[in-house]
Amino acid sequence: MDDLPDHGFETALVSQLSQPATRLLGRPLRFFDTIDSTNTLAARLAREDAAEGTVVIADAQTGGKGRLGRNWVSPPGVNLYLSVILRPRKLTSAAPQLSLLASVAVAETIVQQTQLAPTIKWPNDVLVAGKKVCGILTEMQANGSQLRAVVIGIGVNINAPLASFPEALQDKASSLFLMRGEPVDRAAFAVSLLTHLEKLYVLWLEKGFPAVGAAWEGYASDLLGKSITVTAPEGIISGTVRGIDRDGALLVETVSPEGQARPSSRVQRILAGDVTVVDGY
Ligand code: BTN
Repeated sequence: MDDLPDHGFETALVSQLSQPATRLLGRPLRFFDTIDSTNTLAARLAREDAAEGTVVIADAQTGGKGRLGRNWVSPPGVNLYLSVILRPRKLTSAAPQLSLLASVAVAETIVQQTQLAPTIKWPNDVLVAGKKVCGILTEMQANGSQLRAVVIGIGVNINAPLASFPEALQDKASSLFLMRGEPVDRAAFAVSLLTHLEKLYVLWLEKGFPAVGAAWEGYASDLLGKSITVTAPEGIISGTVRGIDRDGALLVETVSPEGQARPSSRVQRILAGDVTVVDGY
């Protein structure tokens, strides 16, 4: 895999999407050999009134953005970097549900395209054998309390060799290729992902989050009952995972500090943060 633009990827994508795989997503599709960040462009297009369903996809990113201000390593020729513009008529409080929904779409696509067994780590990291293969960055634009647009940015490590990961990430992250032992067709994966994402989005619009939440819990069942520490905007919270609620918030049972006259437990709702499993990934 060299550093030349991969026009085969674009051609295969456009041809597979021209079969009616999706009705909404990828119509239109904006492809770039190299871009700073598909999320940055998609956010700009959303501000300029781009249609719902617009997808920005790139072969490589020079400034890929991760959650919590991190960067997302985005070499050319191997992975998937795409951002989707959605315009649901919902309150801003519903936006985090779309991140969870997107992680289910990625997990379903991995099962379909690779037969690997993905899991989801709240809120939306997708792992295979405990290593992160996908990250999702959701950014919203609002009119007061109403959503104006949501940009869902999805990065999937598809065919990345181990050497393309920074050393510090090599024991935490992986690619579908490394897990499966053979390359994965990036264009077929991308089209399948858009198809799954569209199906779940329509389900969510029609039936609400619980219809998607059940599938999410299926992939995240590893986390249920585990002792975790969450680095959340409100501070560090330690406790036991009890599930997610109908808004997609993580439910963590915490126990009041030892030494108190009457220790008591309560369930806390966490809307954002980074989870570390005690004795785990
Ligand atoms: C994370 O930190 O886990 C989220 C990573 C999100 C990366 C994707 S790649 C496509 C899109 N464009 C970006 O700049 N970021 C997202």
